[in-house]
Amino acid sequence: MQILTTVRDIRAFSRAQRQDGKTIAFVPTMGALHEGHLSLVRLAERAADVVIVSIFVNPTQFGPQEDLSRYPRPFARDHKLLEAEGVDALFFPSVEEMYPAGAKTFVSVEGLSERLDGSSRPGHFRGVATIIAKFFHAMEPDIAIFGQKDAAQHAVIRRMVRDLGIAVDVRIGPIVREADGLALSSRNVYLDSEQRQQALVLHRALTRARQLAKGGIKQSVGLIAAAHQEFASEPAARVDYVAIVDPEELAPVADVTRGALIAVAAWIGSTRLIDNIVLDAE
Ligand code: PAJ
Repeated sequence: MQILTTVRDIRAFSRAQRQDGKTIAFVPTMGALHEGHLSLVRLAERAADVVIVSIFVNPTQFGPQEDLSRYPRPFARDHKLLEAEGVDALFFPSVEEMYPAGAKTFVSVEGLSERLDGSSRPGHFRGVATIIAKFFHAMEPDIAIFGQKDAAQHAVIRRMVRDLGIAVDVRIGPIVREADGLALSSRNVYLDSEQRQQALVLHRALTRARQLAKGGIKQSVGLIAAAHQEFASEPAARVDYVAIVDPEELAPVADVTRGALIAVAAWIGSTRLIDNIVLDAE
């Protein structure tokens, strides 16, 4: 596995692959890799000839009070995991490389970026869209793979790709969970064992809503109330939002329609966790 740290080098790598007639799949990450990330890497391996993974803790998507400085960065471990998966290139740039001094250009997907996480994390999706646009520009991958775990994120990216006419096929991998339902997240390492148990309330709230939806309750107000009721059973959890939205616009829907998802964010201590589930899947 090659480790490349500059835009120039990753661009040269990608160009050489394309000249050899190879297709490229790209998996962007912030590192602290877990099985959720690795599941995306495996999808990438099946989808294209060459796989590039990036590890970059992107400062512009963190708010001033957020966990940028303490975000886990276990590089040696991540490196080993990616090597074991047979990844071809790891892109591991510095902040200065991705944001040259005086950088003033950002990509904003208006409207969508203010929904779900965007409403409680102002500027978050602007940071995400900007860094992903830079990566796409540098690598020109044929395919890019994102996780359903961040449903709003992939909606923002898909819209950016459409609006800017970027020639990349954005694909989504399913949420990987622990056996007890907790969605894997790099932030789960912040939880102590008691909080780890408390964090299960996110998945319980989602599955309760989905059960009711399957049972015929289609009005969002009722389902959202049921999810809140479940959260109330875990006093240690502080809810940020519970929303039922359509997966493209991320706009609230009054009734559950095909593809609608229920998304939640909650604080367990000082750790903010998110999760979602599709209420009415095919
Ligand atoms: P990060 O949180 O490291 O996640 C990288 C990718 O892994 C994202 O597409 C995310 O949705 C996916 N992922 C995370 N947990 C998952 C799980 N349990 N199951 C399946 N996929 C999962 O998301 C980011 O980084 C950043 O915002 C990034 C896109 C890299 C831009 O900086």
